[in-house]
Amino acid sequence: MEEKRIYYKSNKITVSYAPEKCIHAAECVNGLPSVFDTSQKPWVNVNAELPMKIIEVIKKCPSKALKYKLPGEVEKKEETKMEKTKITVMPNGPLMIEGNLTVKKMTGENIKDGEKLFLCRCGHSASKPFCDGAHKKANFEAE
Ligand code: SF4
Ligand code: FES
Repeated sequence: MEEKRIYYKSNKITVSYAPEKCIHAAECVNGLPSVFDTSQKPWVNVNAELPMKIIEVIKKCPSKALKYKLPGEVEKKEETKMEKTKITVMPNGPLMIEGNLTVKKMTGENIKDGEKLFLCRCGHSASKPFCDGAHKKANFEAE
């Protein structure tokens, strides 16, 4: 399925954002609040900082909801080769699973394929088994 992305452009950098991938880990808003500010519309201001600084923060986005490209470049592709399946427990958030992944129903029906998926650990997601960011609103605290 084609991923829905919203684009924010200047003549030095283009940032794209896929809302459905965002797990609200807040790396962006905490890392560079002058650029990523959810109280503003649009919430991404690509003119507020140097491209280098914006790129630094985008590289920390765990879900790849944020991506960038520089003039004349194609959008950075996510890494495709993965040797082992890796599960990372995100602090007070979902399980991040990286690998060559397929999620299926008990009936065998395919739900989702991917190389990086986030599974809900808090129980509040409206799109289980996937995290939809609801852990933030629910103030989920892992023991
Ligand atoms: S997942 Fe990415 S876009 Fe969403 S809040 Fe975290 S850093 Fe920002
Ligand atoms: S862990 Fe994110 S919605 Fe449950």
